[in-house]
Amino acid sequence: MSKKLIIALPKGRLGKESFAWFEGKAALPFDDRRLRAVNAANTLEYLWVKPSDVIHYVEAGVADLGIVGEDILDESTPDVYRLKHLPFGYCRLVIAGKKAGPLSDKDGLKVATKYPRTAERYFKARRQKVTLMTLQGSVELAPLVGLADVILDIVETGSTLQANALYVQEELGASQAILIANKAQYRWSYDTITQLLKGVESAHEMV
Ligand code: PRP
Repeated sequence: MSKKLIIALPKGRLGKESFAWFEGKAALPFDDRRLRAVNAANTLEYLWVKPSDVIHYVEAGVADLGIVGEDILDESTPDVYRLKHLPFGYCRLVIAGKKAGPLSDKDGLKVATKYPRTAERYFKARRQKVTLMTLQGSVELAPLVGLADVILDIVETGSTLQANALYVQEELGASQAILIANKAQYRWSYDTITQLLKGVESAHEMV
């Protein structure tokens, strides 16, 4: 009998789509207050964790697989395998502020973000000295209350920017969901993981 695989999923929007990708839309809705759950076939165990924590569970080998946004992976570059891009979790990484672009090239610009390393790389490449402020969430509030001039954040539907009268000044790139694997577990459980992915993909092809 093959080993039960453990998969770390991000709580929230991306987690819901990830769970439906593995288990099919019929498995929704589910009780997301249960932080640990085994699927009906007893072949997979899901761990529901904060999106930015998925990489830690996978890197440590507590989970064999995980699903994470490319934005988060690029921010922390963990030592895991990036197995494949998944067809959901699409978003754009942007800089936004109270006025439409272009983005100011003045030194001293105050930038609030959940992605400090990405921001540092970006402004370094522009040779612009900025003051970075790392926030954990509700980043859109920062320019509204004078905590920052602009934000560097992800935009999915655009409704949060719109609701807060913020405008995109610069597009940095696109991001989507990625399936990651613990390096050692991937080698040990190669057949089980390959079989799982084949099964999931053929189930999607049949829909
Ligand atoms: C993310 C992101 C934006 C929002 C964008 O935040 O940081 O705030 O989603 O999505 P939209 O374009 O569809 O409105 P998240 O929902 O993860 O909440 P947070 O602010 O607590 O990080």
